[in-house]
Amino acid sequence: MNINSNYQNVKDSYLFSTIARKVNEYTAAHPEAPVIRLGIGDVTLPLCPAVIDAMHKAVDEMSTKEGFHGYGPEQGYGFLKESIQKYYASYGVALDADEIFVSDGAKSDVGNILDLFSADNVVLVPDPVYPVYVDTNIMAGRKIIYMNANEENGFLPLPDASVSCDLIYLCSPNNPTGAAYDRAALKQWVDYAKAQDAVILYDAAYEAFITEDVPRSIFEIEGAKDCAIEFCSFSKTAGFTGTRCGYTIVPLALKDGLLNKMWLRRQTTKFNGVPYIVQRGAAAVFTEEGMAQIQENLSYYKENAKILASALDELGIWYTGGKNSPYIWLKCPNGMESWEFFDYLLENANVVGTPGAGFGENGKNFFRLTAFGDRAKTIEAVERIKKLLSK
Ligand code: MLT
Repeated sequence: MNINSNYQNVKDSYLFSTIARKVNEYTAAHPEAPVIRLGIGDVTLPLCPAVIDAMHKAVDEMSTKEGFHGYGPEQGYGFLKESIQKYYASYGVALDADEIFVSDGAKSDVGNILDLFSADNVVLVPDPVYPVYVDTNIMAGRKIIYMNANEENGFLPLPDASVSCDLIYLCSPNNPTGAAYDRAALKQWVDYAKAQDAVILYDAAYEAFITEDVPRSIFEIEGAKDCAIEFCSFSKTAGFTGTRCGYTIVPLALKDGLLNKMWLRRQTTKFNGVPYIVQRGAAAVFTEEGMAQIQENLSYYKENAKILASALDELGIWYTGGKNSPYIWLKCPNGMESWEFFDYLLENANVVGTPGAGFGENGKNFFRLTAFGDRAKTIEAVERIKKLLSK
């Protein structure tokens, strides 16, 4: 046998696994250290009551002969797809039920979608970027080209007509920078993709955090259904990081329905669907009650983001994000590099963040803090950071 030698080209360990290992080493050596984790973007609030009720009911159904569900449709139950359709319709996007594919999360789909594309496609990704886009393409041996996201362009790079590519990754609101594209910018991306005959892989996992007038979906942009696939998730919207449910929209207009047909073929072959109980919980997110309850949780995280941002304002530290996003992307103080700042903060304030270098070369002097933490711990972390950096 021969192994897939492309794996020799990825870093030894996934970014968030490396951070977890480093923090575990630190806490093993300093068991008394009151470490606060604002690194990985994992939620801390429980699932909302509407979701829990729906899942309880579904569990009861599963205990009866009539209510029992075995294999479900691989692309998701009709009741959930209908709820997703209504949600998109609420901001003016009409979806056909056959364009919606329910999955166990955006991360899996972002990687799995690559099954549909030839290994010789050229991939365009921003730098910094969510490491999954890069690692999955390295594993498949694709050529990756980078576009610079930096302070000058507000970490929102625009297309360069002189660059040729086949696949384009966009994430808005962005992980890790928190920056969000407006309509005019996304229109430029759609026009560029069409001119290139390329496909945009659009990650909308953080759309629920949008507070300003920016698009929640690439399909709000005219022409996007001809050139884009969108990924979304209940993880950050409704606290499903451990429950697992997301969805991918593959438009029927895209390449005359070919990619939709291929994705259905891929999913029916390699995926057996999300558990009925989980899909019932996900559908409850879109009920009036569920929407009101998740808004409460989202407001809690948004308030955490404000607390983090105002500390940086006080310290005079440059940052983006926080407004339409649960992430704050800050410039490391005193010219420090991001892994150096990671160690400095861990050792001197017992606060964990994510080094920008983990997201790419352009992140090497930046650092990401998440607003998904517990409120009291976020306030405590801010106090420690202020004390340390105002010395
Ligand atoms: C992150 O911290 O960037 C996220 O947790 C990543 C993810 O959602 O997989």
